[in-house]
Amino acid sequence: FLEKGEVEFKNVSFSYPESEVPVLQNLSFSVKSGETLAILGSTGSGKTSLFQLVPRLYDVSEGEVLVDGKNVRDYPIEALRKGIGVVPQEAVLFTGSISENISWGKEGAVQEEIVQAAKDAQIHETVLKLPNQYDTRVGQRGVNLSGGQKQRLSIARALVRKPKILMLDDSTSALDLKTEAKLLEALRKYACTTFIITQKISTAMEADHILLLDDGSIEAWGTHEELLETSPLYVKIVQS
Ligand code: CTP
Ligand code: MG
Repeated sequence: FLEKGEVEFKNVSFSYPESEVPVLQNLSFSVKSGETLAILGSTGSGKTSLFQLVPRLYDVSEGEVLVDGKNVRDYPIEALRKGIGVVPQEAVLFTGSISENISWGKEGAVQEEIVQAAKDAQIHETVLKLPNQYDTRVGQRGVNLSGGQKQRLSIARALVRKPKILMLDDSTSALDLKTEAKLLEALRKYACTTFIITQKISTAMEADHILLLDDGSIEAWGTHEELLETSPLYVKIVQS
């Protein structure tokens, strides 16, 4: 659906429809195929809003978002929705089996693909302990899952589609560091361009680039080492 998964923002500004308040202001950056971008910033700084512009959940107010050099407006919406795996900040599960929840949005997923995605998302072992394993029902009158378990199911759902671009919106917040490290390691073989919103410096340190948002603007861009030198705000976050 997408060729390489390169992403470029060119002078992007954004405000929500029917609002005058600019949420993102003049953002420019680019991420190459297979690279990881960590996005940091305090609550309300615009992280989730930035994410939504890539699969066109919203359109930019000014500037351009390019995927593989082409404006996202020039893609069929299907290509964006299928080529970009967005794991939302709040995992959304529906009433149905674990398998159905993972394969949702990918017609014809076979069991091996579902299990592989679950393994990579670090939820397979948990599923095996459930009363009916992959056939266990979740949601109303089904088993209750913890926040971290829901997050990992939601990641498995994105992985089963083998996206070219993977966008994780604070999706590892409930995971312990060891599980998160295993997850990030498993993601490597997907070789997808990865945007990861995170509060954890340990996650940001592993990324090819860090984008620090402050009130809708880019406060700093670079690697962990570079930001330690150039961004007082980043240093403050590291020390907190
Ligand atoms: N906003 C809005 N309309 C929406 C969603 C968000 O006006 N439908 C505003 C928020 O009030 C906020 C700004 O857009 O001032 C940025 O929001 P968001 O991108 O969601 O911020 P995040 O950085 O994702 O914040 P958090 O860490 O709390 O998720
Ligand atoms: Mg958010």
